[in-house]
Amino acid sequence: IFVPEIIEKKKRGKKLSREEIEFLIKGYVEGEIPDYQMAAFLMAVYFRGMDEEETTYLTLAMASSGERVDLSKIDGIKVDKHSSGGIADTTTLVLIPLVASCGVRAAKMSGRGLGHTGGTIDKLESIPGFKVELSQDEFVENVNRIGAAITGQSKNLVPADKKLYALRDVTATVDSIPLIASSIMSKKIAGGADKIVLDVKFGRGAFMKTYEEAKALAELMVKIGNLAGKETVAFVTDMDQPLGLAIGNSIEVIEAIETLKGNGHEDLVRLCLELGSEMLLLAGEYKEKEEAENALKENIKNGRALTKLKEIIAAQGGDERVIEDYSLLPKAKYTLEVYPGNEGYIKEIDALRLGLTAMKLGAGRQKKEDNIDLGVGIWIYKKVGDFAEKDKPLARILANDREKLNWAVKEVVESFLLTGEYVPKRNVIWAKITG
Ligand code: URA
Ligand code: CA
Repeated sequence: IFVPEIIEKKKRGKKLSREEIEFLIKGYVEGEIPDYQMAAFLMAVYFRGMDEEETTYLTLAMASSGERVDLSKIDGIKVDKHSSGGIADTTTLVLIPLVASCGVRAAKMSGRGLGHTGGTIDKLESIPGFKVELSQDEFVENVNRIGAAITGQSKNLVPADKKLYALRDVTATVDSIPLIASSIMSKKIAGGADKIVLDVKFGRGAFMKTYEEAKALAELMVKIGNLAGKETVAFVTDMDQPLGLAIGNSIEVIEAIETLKGNGHEDLVRLCLELGSEMLLLAGEYKEKEEAENALKENIKNGRALTKLKEIIAAQGGDERVIEDYSLLPKAKYTLEVYPGNEGYIKEIDALRLGLTAMKLGAGRQKKEDNIDLGVGIWIYKKVGDFAEKDKPLARILANDREKLNWAVKEVVESFLLTGEYVPKRNVIWAKITG
């Protein structure tokens, strides 16, 4: 096979064979195919697209490019959960102990945050002593012993994606639905779970800006998962405004703990119940959605989900007293409450602007190498549809730098758009996609 012929074929919009796709990925990872040929190929895919079958072959070729996580020593059906990334989205920290408390083995690999979106591994690092890098043996051992573990991705998981993503980033080919779908699904497949629940977000704070794009991505990923032999269900969910109320690292840990104590914001709770009950159904623990949802609610009420989080923290070397004593978590030196300029119903909250503001306060990374400040962030007090009164704060800013604190005030106030007319609340769940 000759690389320019494969590029030519895609350039003309023709369908590639499995062999051609495997040849490209293998050659690229092994360094035999140079960046300039792969860059031309990616741009051809950007303009011409790939069908479900081609995208599945691409996904499988990528998934085979490095080590695969072996979860076979964990009994039962392993269900993974993946989010396409959001703001004030501490779902994973709520869901993992919650589903584990209902009997589902939760072996979760998570990432770090980049840009305006947060990462579960960073959030967990705000718990003193918490070990975020487990060996494969420790990971499997913890899941077998207490039902759950959360670890960073192993270094050699899907090297094809690391190399391709870096190239896409500098060739303006990130925003291609087949390339995004294969990037995400290759990591899910190599991650070793039997079944997959996807949370595909849309709106200002998400990768996909419109509902239609997010739905197309969700449908494609569900097809790939099922073609690859892993039952996959996706939800298309709102990320036009922040999901919960906390944007940061230690404060998202607090929000997750509060949610497990039964004090979560209704939107975050709804998403956790929706994704969680689907995980219980896929794992075969329950037959009916309502039954599964009731089990989750019950374990929030009776404290079992919170106890499970405590066990996870202790098993990974963290200080479990944080559950009762938030002062053990990193804090910011300065806090400031922000008031609205006027009163009115909240019509919009610009999730992206708030996410970027939190990032610039130090809660996130602009570049992969940046350090983050675990104690800073933004607590919002209100969401779309709530009424903002002039003398009641809209949000609280937490900072370690006075200049940044003062700068952030305008950013936060202007992220809220108020109106005199009644505004309904936004739906969190917009669609469910099954195979
Ligand atoms: N997330 C990924 O993992 N890959 C993409 O291409 C986009 C978002
Ligand atoms: Ca997340």
